[in-house]
Amino acid sequence: MLTKAPKGTMDIKPSDAYKWQYIEEEMRKICKQFGVKEVRTPVFEHTELFQRGVGDTTDVVEKEMYTFNDKGDRSITLRPEGTAGAVRSFIEHGLFNEPQPTKLFYLISCYRYEKPQAGRYREFHQFGVEYFGTQSPAADAEMISLPWTLYKRLGLKNLTLNLNSIGCPKCRKEYNEKLKDYLKPHYDDLCETCKNRYDRNPMRILDCKSSICKDIVKNAPLLIDCICDECRDHFENLKKYLTAMDIPFEIDPLIVRGLDYYTKTVFEITAKNENSNGTICGGGRYDGLVEELGGGYVPASGFALGMERLLLTMEEQGIEILDDNKLDIYVGHIGDENSFFAQKLVADLRNCGISAERDHLGRSVKAQMKYANKLGVKYTVILGDDEIAAQKAKIKNMDEGSETEIELSAQAIANHIN
Ligand code: HAM
Repeated sequence: MLTKAPKGTMDIKPSDAYKWQYIEEEMRKICKQFGVKEVRTPVFEHTELFQRGVGDTTDVVEKEMYTFNDKGDRSITLRPEGTAGAVRSFIEHGLFNEPQPTKLFYLISCYRYEKPQAGRYREFHQFGVEYFGTQSPAADAEMISLPWTLYKRLGLKNLTLNLNSIGCPKCRKEYNEKLKDYLKPHYDDLCETCKNRYDRNPMRILDCKSSICKDIVKNAPLLIDCICDECRDHFENLKKYLTAMDIPFEIDPLIVRGLDYYTKTVFEITAKNENSNGTICGGGRYDGLVEELGGGYVPASGFALGMERLLLTMEEQGIEILDDNKLDIYVGHIGDENSFFAQKLVADLRNCGISAERDHLGRSVKAQMKYANKLGVKYTVILGDDEIAAQKAKIKNMDEGSETEIELSAQAIANHIN
């Protein structure tokens, strides 16, 4: 128990951390190119934020939140996603007073009490982007192009962008009535969850995974056929912008998304692999959320992608990430008295911007070199009495096996390595 991480969580081992660092660096790079700035919000928020923001008829809020009372008897929830916190922060700091749009990104851990399985965890990590202050379909297209471009840069294949419009509250209200009329004769056959959804949020029935419900909704009226002129216009323009950027998409009228805040655009990106066909990214427009959470009317849209699912997909597709965190040089030494010189050289090398390591276990020279090999260092140098007396040493290039004699100073070694 003590030495096992809680169910649905996992450690990022030192031998895997470089993959996360590489991907996060690519994310930061692309955000810079898109003019998107980082926001960091707390891991926990007031429970009400998610109840109001994510929606209290959603699975996330109904079944999956980590909620507890703190010592001051406040109801607190570990964030199940990043949008609600980003919106809260946007309102709290009056970011709507700055020239719009405000483009924010986050790299965060999230918590959902779900049944753990491959690609589904209780603690997972999201990279998300939110665009505030614009209702333009061009902004939606740009926002969608960000994860698409990122995935392409990371080398992902077999990606599909599925797109839908779920209209605005006005057209959705009319549609919900139409859908309920259609579902009424099938009500008794719906699963228990969908019976519950029938009055509270009938659209979610379209998203049910049960085969009986799937069968029932096969001929249901589609929201995309019922949206108002303004929503249709928005959707048509979004498609044109995506086409202009050479981003292929498929219309999937059954995408409704599991969170309540969406309006108009919704999308998911899936990656098809030999054994899986999973959603690796999802998002859309949420024009009513800022107002719902106490700000003024600020249209917005965004997405989030799961880091673990991205890494799993890269692995399944055989995409290798090279570890370029290898140490530059291993400084070996012969004899206890030369340990001081080794320590001094390592310290000086690090101050010259070189990554360096030495022995801390009293190994023999042979064992030190074996260890250096295991570390995969680029260069080695051995300090014995002769080298220290002459202030000259042989630097060995481990890839080529070649040796060069140079002056025994950190700067000279750094110049040689660079
Ligand atoms: P979401 O679809 O709930 O959307 O989550 C986004 C992504 O997070 C999923 O596509 C998946 O890759 C990952 N994910 C979700 N749950 C888990 C889990 N239990 N284990 C591992 N990965 C998971 C949102 O969270 C919205 N906030 C996205 C958004 C941003 N919409 C507008 N702005």
